[in-house]
Amino acid sequence: MSSCLDAARPETAPAETARFRPAIHFTARDTWLNDPNGLVFHDGLYHLFFQNNPHGSVWGNMSWGHATSRDLLHWTEHPVAIAGDETEDIFSGSVVVDHGNTSGFGTADAPALVAIYTSAYKAVSEHSGSQAQSLAYSTDAGMTWRKYGGNPVLTRNSANFRDPKVFRYEGEGDQDACWVMVAVEAQHQKVVFYRSEDLKSWDFLSDFGPANADAGEWECPDLFPLAVDGDPDDVRWVLIVNVNPGAVAGGSGGQYFVGNFDGVRFAPDPDSIAAPEGVASLPGSAAATALQECLWLDWGRDCYASVSFSNAPDDRRIIIGWMNNWDYANELPTAPWRSSMTLAREVRLTAVNGSARLVQQPVLADFCAGEGDPTAKDQLNADSFEFKNSALRLPDAVPGRAQVISAEILPGRAGRVTFNLLGNDEGSAGTVLSYNAATAKLVLDRRRSGNTGFHEKFPSVESAPLVLDDGVLKLQMVVDRCSVEVFAQGGMVVLTDLVFPAEGHAQNRLSAEGDSATILKLSVSTLA
Ligand code: FRU
Repeated sequence: MSSCLDAARPETAPAETARFRPAIHFTARDTWLNDPNGLVFHDGLYHLFFQNNPHGSVWGNMSWGHATSRDLLHWTEHPVAIAGDETEDIFSGSVVVDHGNTSGFGTADAPALVAIYTSAYKAVSEHSGSQAQSLAYSTDAGMTWRKYGGNPVLTRNSANFRDPKVFRYEGEGDQDACWVMVAVEAQHQKVVFYRSEDLKSWDFLSDFGPANADAGEWECPDLFPLAVDGDPDDVRWVLIVNVNPGAVAGGSGGQYFVGNFDGVRFAPDPDSIAAPEGVASLPGSAAATALQECLWLDWGRDCYASVSFSNAPDDRRIIIGWMNNWDYANELPTAPWRSSMTLAREVRLTAVNGSARLVQQPVLADFCAGEGDPTAKDQLNADSFEFKNSALRLPDAVPGRAQVISAEILPGRAGRVTFNLLGNDEGSAGTVLSYNAATAKLVLDRRRSGNTGFHEKFPSVESAPLVLDDGVLKLQMVVDRCSVEVFAQGGMVVLTDLVFPAEGHAQNRLSAEGDSATILKLSVSTLA
């Protein structure tokens, strides 16, 4: 992770904290971060703006920090892009490339980048108490930003109207091409849709919600089209709605709906609705069941505020989330840097028993797929063999590096297949990922993962229903010092948890219980 910040300032993190700094997940050098903002690809660079406290290690003084990357794995941090001031905090939002110069901020030949963000007005402001949408623009490819003089551009006289995601709607049927904004009325569990010709004046289109997980505030929505299994005649729209608290693993999490957007309103496919009025309207056990049946981007504790890149090359849809949970975010045991982003994940829609569902692949999938990749070194490659009871030792994690562990396993008659990650000699510590055949669940248990005592809500066990492919368990695990991201069955199920292992706990083991299981494929790669 490099930095274009004041070069004279050395790494200030104490050793305990430096040990946890991820190798391939973005962290700010020495400050707090939360949601990814303004994800945009422009002129060969991926820009990641982010909720940032430029002056501290806990939430506050909200501004947009800035980082760029060419490969979505290695990031360079730049100075703050849009700073909060005495009148407003700069909350979450998005960036578009204004190709047609509709805003007049750029020129037809040199389009401006336009940020649409939430002004969270402070007491001294004339708009005190409200949240409204504002613009800033850049005419130097995203490196410096100017706030628009006509801000705010959209108000509803609401205290919780925020997180605008803007995209170019290409038009269809009666609907002309225009800009569409997707935002939230957070406390009413509503997504609201607006349209604009010039990004400056906005007209209300419709709203959606509550539905499915609605026990907490709705935040950071996104809306984009994807072709189901690449079929151009079957394009559906994915509506992402983050919810806090009330997610499936507790606290913050991201759900999605699949449906149609006709330029005015979003209509969900009936099979993406588990609770039409929202789970909060259901009695206890029915609510718990419905929550499990909602569509989740991630079943772990630490993936929130996921949104996608604008303008990504080759029509790819790539999302990044904040790898944290509001339950304990301000207390993570690292300082002065605190929090990181998830890996970038490419999302696709695929048909599962007639329903369109998202699958996610970490973008490093192509990166470490093999042939000629100078940064990934296969440390172990195993062909089909049976194993049982005694644990198979895998290559240790290497300090300062991320590991990718990929496995295809036939559990056969084994009751449980378990990976113990970042553990110790005695086997008494580690993060435990297991597939339980009796319950058909994938379970991630971080109760013995290391430092869990900094918050009572941190020790936890997460589980997700998992359907195997012809009896084969397919896992890809990315372990990067303080996190475990699990992509199961080709990314149909994803589980992300933070972990803070004790010094030297680097052992990885694989075991089967009950009876033998068969390893069909196993590889462990260390990324440079
Ligand atoms: C989500 C969120 C957003 C808001 C931002 C403030 O984590 O609460 O709704 O814009 O964080 O930092």
